[in-house]
This record gives sequence, structure tokens and C-alpha cells, in this order.
Amino acid sequence: MNVKAIFFDAYGTLFDVHSVLETCEQYFPDRGMQISEAWRQKQLEYTWLRSMMDKYEDFWKVTEDALAYALKALGLDAGKEVRSALMREYLHLNPYPEVQKALEKLNSRKLAILSNGTQAMLDLLVENARLTQVFSDVISVDELKIYKPYMGVYELGIDKLFIDKNEALFVTSNPWDAAGAKTFGFRVCWINRFNKPFDELGVHPDVVIRNLEELADKL
Ligand code: 2OP
Repeated sequence: MNVKAIFFDAYGTLFDVHSVLETCEQYFPDRGMQISEAWRQKQLEYTWLRSMMDKYEDFWKVTEDALAYALKALGLDAGKEVRSALMREYLHLNPYPEVQKALEKLNSRKLAILSNGTQAMLDLLVENARLTQVFSDVISVDELKIYKPYMGVYELGIDKLFIDKNEALFVTSNPWDAAGAKTFGFRVCWINRFNKPFDELGVHPDVVIRNLEELADKL
């Protein structure tokens, strides 16, 4: 594969959104996974809904709103302090264990993040995971005020890197994001970490791997 640059999605792809579990458990024993799953699901839904309604709020706000909804839906009472503590975890999500090494193997190409997160959220996340040196660009949708899978967001990626879409590979664990990137015209690698079926959206990823470690061998 002739790949000059690789774009990575952030949440769920490089960083484990369920790293919030431990702190959720501290405040709400035995409810951690339920909270984390409902929180993530609502967060994604809110990005899609806000994009469709043309009512953009940034990813920090969307994530706060999603947490408030998830707790309410599960009948859990949490004050501002607890919600703030849970939100702080979002800046310290763990990278998946293979990420650091796998990125080192890929670093003869330009490596960039293209994510729904705000610039501040992404920069802190990357810094806290000691990955700052790895990426040439950390690109946030915030500049466009609309979320993936809006086509313009993928376009923003290639504009920032001054490359053509056929020179890039887009890597994500999120099937909806893989479908968006493929529809845009990227070559797409889907990381199927949890052995799930791919979405029925009429497009398919070019490469499917189980974790990032496998990517270097495929290129
Ligand atoms: C992203 O990082 C939300 O996972 C999605 O853009």
C-alpha cells in the first residue's frame, strides 16, 4: 500500500473510552460499565443529532450532557462535583496497550489524529499519554463546528496535511466513522477490537485488523 499519511480517530481507537470505569465504580459501585456504555452511546448520538440539527456544541459540552443523561437514565444521583470528577477522566483516558509500540513502527509516515474532540481535549489527552512527539498534526472538528461523519471533516484532514485523499489511510475502531471515511474516498482500516459485525451502510473497510499492532504488517 502506498500510504504517505495515516489519520487516526481518537476515542475508542487510540484511547479506551472505558478507562472511566474505575472512577465510575468509586462513586457508583457495580454500575461502572453501565454508566460508561450509556455515556459513550449518548455522546455519539448527541454529535450526530447536533450535526443534523445544525446546533453545534463542542465535544466537551456534548460529553458533559451525555454523562448527565446517562446518570439520570440509570436513576443515579450525582452532583456537580461527581460529574466534574468523571469528566476529568476524559482527559486521562488510557491508550490501548499496543498503541505506543505500534505507532513507533508506523512512524516513517506522517501520523495525524482527526477527531471530534476539542483541540484542548485532544492535546491534553495526547500529552497525558506521552504521545506528543508521535503525531505531526492533531486535528479537531471544532474548527468546522460539525462532527464526523460529515464529509467536510475528512476533507479538513487532507487540507491540513496538504495531501490527496488517495495518499492517506484512515484508521478507526468506530464502524460509523469507517463508513464515513470510506464514503469520503479514503482507504480505510477498521480495528475490530471486539469481534463485532460491520455496519450495513453500503460500504466496507479495505482492511480489518484486531488491534493496531497488526497494521504495520499490512502496509
Ligand atoms: C472521535 O475521536 C468520537 O471517536 C470519535 O472522533
